[in-house]
Amino acid sequence: MSAKIIAITNQKGGVGKTTTTINLASGLGKLGKKVLLIDFDPQGNSTSGIGIEKDSINYDIFDVLINDKNIEEATYPCSSHNVSVVPATINLAGADLHLMKENRTEKNILKEKINPVIDKYDYILIDCPPSLGLLNRNALSTAHSAIIPVQSHYYALEGLTQLLSTIHLVQRLFNEKLYIQGILITMFNRRTNLSREVKNELKKYFKERVYNATIPQNIHLAEAPSKGLSIFDYKKSSRGANAYHRFVKEVIKQNG
Ligand SMILES: Nc1ncnc2c1ncn2[C@@H]1O[C@H](COP(=O)(O)OP(=O)(O)O)[C@@H](O)[C@H]1O
Ligand SMILES: [Mg+2]
Repeated sequence: MSAKIIAITNQKGGVGKTTTTINLASGLGKLGKKVLLIDFDPQGNSTSGIGIEKDSINYDIFDVLINDKNIEEATYPCSSHNVSVVPATINLAGADLHLMKENRTEKNILKEKINPVIDKYDYILIDCPPSLGLLNRNALSTAHSAIIPVQSHYYALEGLTQLLSTIHLVQRLFNEKLYIQGILITMFNRRTNLSREVKNELKKYFKERVYNATIPQNIHLAEAPSKGLSIFDYKKSSRGANAYHRFVKEVIKQNG
């Protein structure tokens, strides 16, 4: 077994990266896959959202990148079956400065750090920060593929050009096999023309790479992280859970 490494990325904040990472991890875990979730955002939202208490963390992803801790020393169980987590704390906000200071920007640190555990998991998911900086570049250089959550809003498509050119740059310089695995439409509202228009626009450009599952605006999806639970452990029969379940099955179909 060698893990499929997926970066969940979009430099826009609030588009559903963290919600998607948590629920993809949890959904895969419940279907028997071994999952490692790496929180790569200094805000640490997927860390707390999947039930890891800040007080219980001895080492985090910053210690792995900068302080030479093994990734195993910074891996914790969480509220979701078959899912392990490498947490992030606000310390991670200083990581790019450290890496620059030590002249380690051109090396792919994250990939080196993940390598020893790649055979222990079926999936490694990286929850990316809302920027196109060094952390995001490390995530994309490490990943086999990217999943891009896109909020079905008026400005959804704005910024995608920049994201795509970053992905192309990473392909050219660091990771020629990187590809876009799929576009996931989030906070979808079937009743509005706008949501449908955004979906049509995305399909025009990305074609079958747009997932059939769309994630609706759903209050239970917004509530679950405050309980430290995935949607499947919080409200298994909600519309949000059904939608994420369909998405998880599409991802498994892509990867086996
Ligand atoms: N489908 C949804 N329906 C309702 N609320 C959502 C949905 N997806 C995400 N949210 C909420 O919107 C906010 C932003 O989502 P989040 O996943 O944190 O985005 P990102 O990681 O891209 O910044 C969070 O408060 C989250 O709980
Ligand atoms: Mg986030």
